[in-house]
Amino acid sequence: MLTLGIESSCDETGIGLYDSEHGLLAHALHSQIAMHAEYGGVVPELASRDHLRRVVPLIRTTLAQAERTLRDIDAIAYTEGPGLAGALLVGTGIAHALGMALDVPVLGVHHLEGHLLSPLLSHDRPEFPFIALLVSGGHTQLMAVDGIGQYRLLGDTLDDAAGEAFDKSAQLLGLGYPGGAALSVLAGQGDPQRFVLPRPMLHSGDLNFSFSGLKTAVLNLTRKHPLAEARADIAAAFQAAMVDVLTTKTVHALRRAKCRRLVVAGGVGANRQLRERLRTEVERMGATVHFPQLEFCTDNGAMIAFAGAMRLQHGGNTAGAFSVRARWPLDSLEAPIP
Ligand code: KG4
Ligand code: ZN
Repeated sequence: MLTLGIESSCDETGIGLYDSEHGLLAHALHSQIAMHAEYGGVVPELASRDHLRRVVPLIRTTLAQAERTLRDIDAIAYTEGPGLAGALLVGTGIAHALGMALDVPVLGVHHLEGHLLSPLLSHDRPEFPFIALLVSGGHTQLMAVDGIGQYRLLGDTLDDAAGEAFDKSAQLLGLGYPGGAALSVLAGQGDPQRFVLPRPMLHSGDLNFSFSGLKTAVLNLTRKHPLAEARADIAAAFQAAMVDVLTTKTVHALRRAKCRRLVVAGGVGANRQLRERLRTEVERMGATVHFPQLEFCTDNGAMIAFAGAMRLQHGGNTAGAFSVRARWPLDSLEAPIP
């Protein structure tokens, strides 16, 4: 069965083609980062218009890469939410229009379920159950995952998401938007011990996070020290604090759940230092860690095609109405009924 996946929840138009027998056949992506950079963040109206411009050419490119045609598509999965309503409407509109024209089922997918399942696209596919650390621009969550659609929220951020904290701190350091990856590169040139930043909620006794204080601490340092000489050291101190908190809470989650498998997903999962530290700590406790391939850490259409295919394989409902959900808690999803 061939599933076309369409992602348009934020600032990336992503298309994927997943074959239930042969795996991912092709995927294509257009990032709007350059377009939004001059505004210092995503401009929702511009995002919607750009999705509209890109989505059909990207579908054509993906089909051509896979040497398939529209007629070969058996089902269409699109990101129904959460995300920017106008941006989501573009993917939803094209998915339903194509579904009607081709007379194939159409399925709305939860964006975070896409991220959560993206490590299953790699060769060393993790088995269920596992603990997932979801770290993206909009979310920081620890989840217990028992199967498709069986998600229990263990911990969440009380304020900023991990990616948001990276981006806001990067902006304070003059790195542009979104600055997570650039901050990480700069941190590599700095001394993480010159400044010691707070580790918010490290000993809170629960699995929740809070990152807005960390961003304020970065702001205070940028006011006290000239950026020209302190920039790299501040970046290194920030990254060290983030990695420390994320790793410690994740290890707690594994221990509490007595689980030996960790999956890391979302854009911040591309962070090299976080990957290395998680690998070291998780392996030390005799558990294993699975990361998505780097290209599937950030938003993409492959993960939506895959999550859609998984739901369809397990009897997922395709009778859904034409809808988008700007807000949509992941643990409100239900497992598909076969
Ligand atoms: O998952 P994603 O593509 O989009 C959302 O669904 O939010 O994540 C984007 C986030 C941004 O905040 C970006 O700065 C961050 O992931 N990011 C990184 C790195 N690469 C992307 N943060 C830290 N280190 C990186 N290497
Ligand atoms: Zn995302």
